[in-house]
Amino acid sequence: MNYNHDKLCGSPEWAPHIQDEVLPAVTARVDLGQRMLEIGPGPGAATGWLCQRVPRLTALERDETAAAVLAGKFPGVQVAVGDATAMSYPDCSFDSVGSFTMLHHVPATALQNQILAEALRVLRPGGVLVGSDSLPSDGLHAFHEGDTCHPVEPSTLLVRLQTLGFGAVMVAVDEVLMFTARKPSSQERDQGA
Ligand SMILES: C[S@@+](CC[C@H](N)C(=O)[O-])C[C@H]1O[C@@H](n2cnc3c(N)ncnc32)[C@H](O)[C@@H]1O
Repeated sequence: MNYNHDKLCGSPEWAPHIQDEVLPAVTARVDLGQRMLEIGPGPGAATGWLCQRVPRLTALERDETAAAVLAGKFPGVQVAVGDATAMSYPDCSFDSVGSFTMLHHVPATALQNQILAEALRVLRPGGVLVGSDSLPSDGLHAFHEGDTCHPVEPSTLLVRLQTLGFGAVMVAVDEVLMFTARKPSSQERDQGA
């Protein structure tokens, strides 16, 4: 991440924004369950909120240094270093998967889809994907100068999630993009087949 990003995501203003405005809204109708995976936790603005609500939180971060700092900050969270496009977790191992302000750091739509497909694979049937991200704008691109910036096009997200196999997709566009989607239960999958 570039200097702007490091400064913002670790700043005292960012955590309250994520924790007071984004997470309560996007999780309002969602049961996060007992075992949650957060992908791309960075400095942990969402991690700090989630770990108070989910008994077993795992955080998967690609950046080794960020992961080490996160593990020191949240000893109760299982922090792992890895790439969310190819997760090592078995199928159906989480009740929920969270992705907050991370997909625009993934440089191509195909790689973002790979992450969403991996999220579907590691969710148990009936489990939920919950996420938020920055909306595309000139300001967002300027902010990421010299850094990866590939924002999700909101109007494509519903179809992308459905095509991958998610059901009950919700996509909301306000100040940020928010989305939830559910992995169909075995019964729903059989009925849809
Ligand atoms: C902007 S930070 C988001 C921080 C945090 N989720 C928040 O909302 O404050 C994006 C994080 O995603 C991580 N990341 C990007 N691509 C990833 C991937 N393929 N697998 C795991 N982590 C990734 C980056 O290293 C970075 O720490």
